Amino acid sequence: MSNKAHAALGFDDYGHHSDELETEVLTGLAKPQKRISSKYFYDERGSKLFEQICDLDEYYVTRTELTLLRAHAKDIADAVGPGAAMIEFGSGASLKERILLDALVAPVAYIPVDISKDHLLGAARALATDYPDLPVHGVCADYTRHFDLPEIAAKGNHFGFFPGSTIGNFSRPEAAEFLRKAGQTLGKGAGMVVGVDLKKDPAILHAAYNDASGVTAAFNLNLLIRVNRELGADFDLDAFSHMARYDASGGYVEMLLRSEREQTVTISGQQFDFTVGETIHTEFSCKYGVDEFRQLAAGVGMTPAHCWVDEKELFSIHYLVVD
Ligand code: AVJ
Repeated sequence: MSNKAHAALGFDDYGHHSDELETEVLTGLAKPQKRISSKYFYDERGSKLFEQICDLDEYYVTRTELTLLRAHAKDIADAVGPGAAMIEFGSGASLKERILLDALVAPVAYIPVDISKDHLLGAARALATDYPDLPVHGVCADYTRHFDLPEIAAKGNHFGFFPGSTIGNFSRPEAAEFLRKAGQTLGKGAGMVVGVDLKKDPAILHAAYNDASGVTAAFNLNLLIRVNRELGADFDLDAFSHMARYDASGGYVEMLLRSEREQTVTISGQQFDFTVGETIHTEFSCKYGVDEFRQLAAGVGMTPAHCWVDEKELFSIHYLVVD
């Protein structure tokens, strides 16, 4: 699809994912440990709440990654080389890709890949407006699966960009599988920049996911508001509460929604019973050691070439090269 305002805006659509929410919610809530995937957090309100989370004093993640990107954009650009096409896994429409694009020498394209067509088009248009000389080509696809790179990627030295510790939402085996597939998609010799949150003092993690102003709680509970709206469910928002805890031996924070009383919820004509204290698992946020992540990458054919960590050792940015 071309757009008059941005001659250089291209678009590929591989997405037909509209009724996934219903299927996933119905199967997820039928399991002994009920679950709804964290990928459904990001409706319009959820995305706004996540932006508010990023501004919280307790949530060090975004702030630390931005500081690291600013401090090392030149090093990353050196590793990537001139004439590069950036393939972003997810469409951030954020400062992050701009910091990196600004540091790249003669970039040839920006290629965001996102399952949400609306997010993708919004982000692609915004970036194309701010970078009128840079070809922008959106790919609407599930980036956890193989997708075809647009032809424009072949014009350069393309590399992947996966910031935000979004990789933390995958379990460790899923993260390995994601990296393996990303490596296949990008091809031998391509670079991959990945933001990875680190293991740290549990008190810091606890505060980051249980903020004092309750924004994270609202973000978690918004999932039920979404299911009520989109699937006509009857979750009572006052009867569930936010929980987030760090499992140090597992190396992850998990978010849950706890049923405060015995209750039955109806979704698409199906009934789901909850006991008092029963939970719906809503998110994994895995935390890694630097060496642990490097080994995970090496195990799936990505050579860990560089790693940048902030002074407080809160967050890491890895540069991997596909073997
Ligand atoms: C966007 C997945 C990196 O795990 O920290 C923030 C989402 N969840 N607060 C994270 C989130 C609760 C976030 N990621």
